Amino acid sequence: MALKDTEIGATAGVRREDDEVVRSGGGKGEIFADLMERRISRRGLLKAGAASAAGALVLTVPGVGNFPAEAQGASMKPGTIKFTPIAPQPVDSQQIVLSEGHTWAPLLRWGDPIRHDAPEFDPENQTPEAQAQQFGYNCDYIGFHSLPFVPGRASKRGLLWVNHEYTNEELMFAGYEFGNPTPGQVNIGLAAHGGTIVELSRDANGIMYVDMRSEYNRRITGTTPMRLSGPAAEHEWVTTQDDPYAQTVLGTLNNCAGGITPWGTVLTCEENFHQYFGNLQNLDSDDPRYDVHDRYGLPEEDSERLWERFHPRFNIAVEPNEAFRFGWVVEIDPYNPEQTPVKRTAMGRFRHEGATFGYSPSGRVTFYSGDDAQFEYVYKFVSDNAWDRSKRGMNQNLLDEGVLYVATFNDDGSGEWLPLIYGEGPLTEENGFTSQGDVMIKTREAGDALGATKMDRPEDIQQNPVNKKVYIACTNNSRRGVDDNPGVDEANPRPENVNGHIIELTETDDDAVSTTFTWDIFILCGLPGDPSTYFAGFPKENVSPIAAPDNVNFDIDGNLWISTDGQPRPIGYADALHAVPTSGAERGNLQQFLAVVAGSECASFDFTDDNRNLFVAVQHPGEGGTIEEPVSTWPHDETGYARPTVIQVWADDGRKVGGGDVPARFKR
Ligand code: FEO
Ligand code: CA
Ligand code: CA
Ligand code: CA
Repeated sequence: MALKDTEIGATAGVRREDDEVVRSGGGKGEIFADLMERRISRRGLLKAGAASAAGALVLTVPGVGNFPAEAQGASMKPGTIKFTPIAPQPVDSQQIVLSEGHTWAPLLRWGDPIRHDAPEFDPENQTPEAQAQQFGYNCDYIGFHSLPFVPGRASKRGLLWVNHEYTNEELMFAGYEFGNPTPGQVNIGLAAHGGTIVELSRDANGIMYVDMRSEYNRRITGTTPMRLSGPAAEHEWVTTQDDPYAQTVLGTLNNCAGGITPWGTVLTCEENFHQYFGNLQNLDSDDPRYDVHDRYGLPEEDSERLWERFHPRFNIAVEPNEAFRFGWVVEIDPYNPEQTPVKRTAMGRFRHEGATFGYSPSGRVTFYSGDDAQFEYVYKFVSDNAWDRSKRGMNQNLLDEGVLYVATFNDDGSGEWLPLIYGEGPLTEENGFTSQGDVMIKTREAGDALGATKMDRPEDIQQNPVNKKVYIACTNNSRRGVDDNPGVDEANPRPENVNGHIIELTETDDDAVSTTFTWDIFILCGLPGDPSTYFAGFPKENVSPIAAPDNVNFDIDGNLWISTDGQPRPIGYADALHAVPTSGAERGNLQQFLAVVAGSECASFDFTDDNRNLFVAVQHPGEGGTIEEPVSTWPHDETGYARPTVIQVWADDGRKVGGGDVPARFKR
């Protein structure tokens, strides 16, 4: 079945990620048949090289964090789908639908107190002070950290980190007037951003609950003091009138995805930070900062939320440098409630989707990160030094010294990681780069100078702990090949790519610090009947439709789980969570596990180490409506408000979510 020739305008209300006009990708079937033929023949050639690494699947380094620890005991059996798939759900669905034999329940809703002494949620009388003690808005990245810190072992207690990406004021405040916010609304908004840490315990039935008396429970907000470290921390452009020595940045904003380090800290990532700043037009266009802000998409006029009216640091005309203090990866230690969060500038400044760990036998650490915008790049940071297993905490500031690389994907299926090092190649004074800190502040320009491959909105990237391959979710790019925009290439093979795709990257020697790789297309998303779709060669008759892949994660068996942000427009179904085996006869057999509700995306998710609990962020339920004219009031509680919520999911038989026995090492 060909795609319908749809053209749908922007949704009602406010959508804070890149809105895209959706057009048909149909009628291009021949092109994709040719593409896949070329790709498959090339894969045959590359297989010889890949086979040599296959014997090294089981890691020999013990206990180095969630990722490798999972891998050590992981099943080497080919992946299979063990759950009963659900049918795609309509976009106006008002309830979570999930695979039979599983149950869900809300764990943390917007406004829930996170400590026993925090105020109860009273949405009609909300205050910034109350919000700062309650679960924030628009939950996204979720990271489960076992407690005590013994990754890959029992998961009876843990610390849960959750990002609060952005706010939907029209769903938070009755009668909210766009263009005319009150100071109270603005300050509640700031307090509803950031993140939450809570301690979880598992009850006798295997269900997690929040320990309201835990000393670990805390909120990070848009005003929490943090510091900058790494090469850009000394740069003149990160100083402001309020903070002339760049000692304290207030807050973190638009934290989308993230990651966990092997030493147990959270990496929470600032994505669409540009939207909080206003009035670029009032900065002299000859000022060198103008072009940088423009390259990062800062608005010429007012920002959407108008925070600059009440907080001059968000007004570029008044404070041209504040925006240089955002767009970073922030490291937070959930085990230390006193810790000051640190913005790690060596990891680059862009619209970071996430930052996820890649394993190297050398002990050096790699973190992969996509710049989620059309025609932006894929990056990875590699530390100079090995991490020290005997130390937790910030691990000697390992993330301050290293090399940021940007990816080029060659059409022959090879690729290179190009270093962003000041003084090397084009990153010199002649081309406007004055120091390593300058290269980091202008990461996008550095990527341009190196000729990196322009991607279809790279979102989450994650290494599979079982097969070591790295999966990159390219969510969509409706402007690919349109007008003067870049045309297709082999890594972004579809024009007007409304459905997105997933790339499978193999680092040379399966070592995440390698500077070369090979790559393949794993999935071309869409309706299975659309000839432009591809599911790793698996027969398409019975796979689930999927579009707009956003977050990726792996279960213990190495099956790839994919959540979506934006299925409704291109394929007409509610956003969802899918799973797909990455090896064996079922490689490519993508099936839907869960669907979320009207207006919401299925944002990030995480499993406990033993896979008995799954946490899923249901973000912006009811978006597209207002309090007065709701699209949804899920989770349908006594408040009557739609509430972004982290739900937990468990298998009724007490086994793993998605089916199968919990490995014996977790039963101790
Ligand atoms: Fe906030 Fe790129 O999704
Ligand atoms: Ca995302
Ligand atoms: Ca992930
Ligand atoms: Ca997204």
